Amino acid sequence: MQHLLKLLDLTGDEIIGLLNMADQLKYETKNGVEHHHLKGKTLGLIFTKSSTRTRVSFEVGMVQLGGYPLFLSANDLQLGRGEPIEDTAKVLSRYIDGIMIRTFKQSDVEDLAKYGSIPVINGLTDSFHPCQVLADLMTIREHKKVLSGLKMCFVGDGHNMANSLTVGGLKVGMEVVMAMPKGYDKLHPDVMAFAKDNPAFKITDDIHAGVKDADVVVTDVWTSMDQGDQAEARRKAFAGFQVNDSLMTHAKPDAIVLHCLPAHRGEEITAEIMDAHPEIIDEAENRLHAQKAVLVTLLKDK
Ligand code: CP
Ligand code: NVA
Repeated sequence: MQHLLKLLDLTGDEIIGLLNMADQLKYETKNGVEHHHLKGKTLGLIFTKSSTRTRVSFEVGMVQLGGYPLFLSANDLQLGRGEPIEDTAKVLSRYIDGIMIRTFKQSDVEDLAKYGSIPVINGLTDSFHPCQVLADLMTIREHKKVLSGLKMCFVGDGHNMANSLTVGGLKVGMEVVMAMPKGYDKLHPDVMAFAKDNPAFKITDDIHAGVKDADVVVTDVWTSMDQGDQAEARRKAFAGFQVNDSLMTHAKPDAIVLHCLPAHRGEEITAEIMDAHPEIIDEAENRLHAQKAVLVTLLKDK
């Protein structure tokens, strides 16, 4: 594994390997066992969109690994004034050991990897959110002990989270149902090519059938960071696609609920469900541990 650009690039075994390392690193963090695997390494963090979890978990994770995080706001970089990705990638590769980038276009992340000579980690694009889904799978396994054979239903928009959950879930042997309103159900073409013939994969606009007997119910905002101008139309289109007590009666009684956060209580999820499912906060914590596993895998001994 040279980069983490999207989960489509990883095998199921590589994903499980990362989750195993993440569990170990979580144990060491909780028990005060020093794990300075990245002593002296520097990670650049480029953000062209807002972030709480991704920024803080990567910064803290690098420090816990004995390395140094460097926050690089795209507004302050020459990148924000039009310097090409190609030059940025080549120059940053001479200073730092790895780059995490959160941005709009997946092609910008792929280009950073193509033109640079250091590992690149995708911290969210409009198309994918691989770090989040590694944390999601870690959280599911913590709560359910297994992944393979579980039914996961995502309720929401066919966007970055839906794409990465589809790929991640199928790669580790889960049944993956995407419950999305018509018109907002177009997964990335590469994801569709990967998933469409898998009998464990289904798209539906019937959320009750989708959630039926699910072990894991996942949702995400109706309006993502790159879709701010569509908020009103989306509120209408997604009305009814809410994770609430009534929907959860269709899931298994011990189903867990996940949300990558930030959440909009009263839209995609109710306050009651947020309060009743503290595993959502475990999920946020697991960003830290899962990403540390990614960092160690990509940067150690390089
Ligand atoms: N879930 C997630 O990526 O959160 P942030 O936008 O706060 O980084
Ligand atoms: N789909 C959301 C995820 C936020 C972590 C967005 O892109 O804004």
